[in-house]
Amino acid sequence: MKLILLGPPGAGKGTQAQRLQDELGLKQLSTGDMLRAAVASGSELGKKAKGIMESGGLVPDDLMVGLIEDRIGQPDCAPGFILDGFPRTTAQAEALDRMLGKRGWKLDHVVEMTVDEQALTQRIVGRFSCAKCGAGYHDTFKRSKKDGVCDVCGATEFTRRKDDNAETVTARMAAYRSQTAPLLPYYAARGVLRKVDGMASMDEVYRQLKAVLGKA
Ligand code: AP5
Repeated sequence: MKLILLGPPGAGKGTQAQRLQDELGLKQLSTGDMLRAAVASGSELGKKAKGIMESGGLVPDDLMVGLIEDRIGQPDCAPGFILDGFPRTTAQAEALDRMLGKRGWKLDHVVEMTVDEQALTQRIVGRFSCAKCGAGYHDTFKRSKKDGVCDVCGATEFTRRKDDNAETVTARMAAYRSQTAPLLPYYAARGVLRKVDGMASMDEVYRQLKAVLGKA
């Protein structure tokens, strides 16, 4: 299965993609995570992306398309994958169509996570993750069972993303509205667009997603 999760920053794409990966064995391909790894490693891509990400803008299309093209050809993507954060522009969507077509693949579903933008800032500024295994948490919506200890690996160090502050969120929302939201009619016209209520609880969003995917 080839799936895209589409929605603004904080809609819950990463949260749901992780659950789908764990349960259905589809590979989560988060371009944000890939770019953060590139920044941390100090690679050429990371050097180019760092400032753009910190300002809330979008990394150039050619870099993003190259990153995804390399990734989807790897063996762990053979059972299927979930694109989380890609495509984000019409040029990226067109490039994705070409790279899937070349392999004789097609998109099964594009799922829009509908949200109330006003609520997203609270979701984003409260987010943190385990520094060791990357498990995601939230100050209000998803605390670890024991304060200061990761539920998954037991580590006690946590990190917050540099771009998770109120000013950058405004720029990221603007980029979503102007450059990514036009993908909704793009995929609706192809008959693959579905919607889930991204404002519901995490469990309810997951239930709706599985229903859309025919896995309920
Ligand atoms: P990226 O990492 O993709 O960030 P984003 O799209 O802004 O998405 P987020 O990770 O902020 O949100 P999410 O929807 O995954 O929400 P989450 O599940 O974490 O991109 C970062 C940057 O990289 C971009 O700004 C850009 O510069 C660059 N980039 C990446 N891809 C690119 C591309 N293709 N082209 C160009 N540039 C690119 O949830 C958020 C919080 O809310 C969590 O704490 C979670 O616990 C909580 N939460 C989730 N669901 C719920 C719920 N239902 N109820 C209550 N709380 C919830």
